[in-house]
Amino acid sequence: MERSVFPKDFIIGTSTASYQIEGAVLEGGRGASIWDVFSHTPGMIHNGDTGDIACDHYHRYPEDIALMKELGVRGYRMSVAWPRIFPKGSGRSNMPGLDFYNRLVDALLEAGIEPMVTLYHWDLPQALQEKGGWGNRDTVLYFADYADTVFRSLGDRVKKWNTLNEPICTAFTGHWFGRHAPGIKDASLAVQVSHHLMLAHAMAVEAFRQSGLDGRLGIALNLYPIYPASQLPEDKKAAWFADGFYNRWFLDPVMKGAYPEDMLSVYRENLNAPVIRDGDMEKIAGSHVDFLGINYYFRKIVKSSESNDFLPMEEVRPEGAEFTEMGWEVYPQGLLDLLRRVHRDYDGPCMMITENGAAFKDNIIRDGIIQDDDRVSYLERHLEKAREAISEGIKLEGYYIWSLIDNFEWGHGYSKRFGLFHVDYNTLERSWKKSARWLKRYIEENNL
Ligand code: FCB
Repeated sequence: MERSVFPKDFIIGTSTASYQIEGAVLEGGRGASIWDVFSHTPGMIHNGDTGDIACDHYHRYPEDIALMKELGVRGYRMSVAWPRIFPKGSGRSNMPGLDFYNRLVDALLEAGIEPMVTLYHWDLPQALQEKGGWGNRDTVLYFADYADTVFRSLGDRVKKWNTLNEPICTAFTGHWFGRHAPGIKDASLAVQVSHHLMLAHAMAVEAFRQSGLDGRLGIALNLYPIYPASQLPEDKKAAWFADGFYNRWFLDPVMKGAYPEDMLSVYRENLNAPVIRDGDMEKIAGSHVDFLGINYYFRKIVKSSESNDFLPMEEVRPEGAEFTEMGWEVYPQGLLDLLRRVHRDYDGPCMMITENGAAFKDNIIRDGIIQDDDRVSYLERHLEKAREAISEGIKLEGYYIWSLIDNFEWGHGYSKRFGLFHVDYNTLERSWKKSARWLKRYIEENNL
């Protein structure tokens, strides 16, 4: 049987984020972000690592773009650091910051690579955190201003945008579980933050529509296909709950303009949150995205549990499965299940895989090249599922690999390597891994 082919305009790209690669935290008038403060707080990051230097992409971007050109990818998903544009979060914009991203975008286009820009990949200006951060409703307005400034500066050339990256991580990992900046553990605040993020997203969409610029807007959600650990009714119920917690709480407002009623009552009963003001839901409902960005890494298997406060669910680790260095299960079928589900339940939207990839040990070296066969196999199998989804009529337009280069993996510091290219953190030298060579061939062979 002949394999189905990728549509001609399907984009294979690579993905990164500002704080994870740029470094140069004190240059070009950049203000501090919450990740600068968090990473410099003892005990928060593996090995005390920080993003101070990271991959020094701020200075080495021409080299990174040259690598992408050589690799043959057509797209690059990057993020803008808010504190480079507004060092204090609001007020007057900082020209050197805008200049940097203008140069970057020009260099990408020059190399024939289409930029997709994420406005918020977690680096909130610290000055705003000091006024309450995402818990403070004013931050929503500051975000809309910041978004508008970036749209007007880059929007003549950037045609694909993500407002936020993984709002659940900002809201819950940052404010409920305290594992990400700003490192707060307050469930009510976390749920309130999630509402402010949905509003911020909506206001950025509105600002874009009002700017009259042409281009397409999305949001990158990390979604999970969720499976019950058994066919027992209580496990199925727990899986549905987990789906509400991880997926629907963000998907529903973005795609349907309303929070899921079941989760809204759970939060209202247990947390007195979120506080929703008159007009908020109308704003959210009016903010249609042109595509949904999906970050997919692994599935969740869930059983019912009473030990987890008011969250009646517990995750089960699949026996004998294949895992990455992050401890994440390798489960390509989950990508297809997830795409089918969103297609079915949310009216067949246009979608992009805004992140997919894996960290592995990368410790086998032959002929001076990292033999990351595990990453090759990971990517190949997930791309196959993407192709299968397309052949079923699912509107999947692109696949962006996390990540272009090894980088600062948040709480794990530099200990987890996701790159197609290896970075030597002593010399900052980049080198091709086997997976990058494989991808180059894959792109050629599939006419992508
Ligand atoms: C996602 C993040 C991204 C990267 C990958 C591994 O949750 O969006 O920045 O850290 O995980």
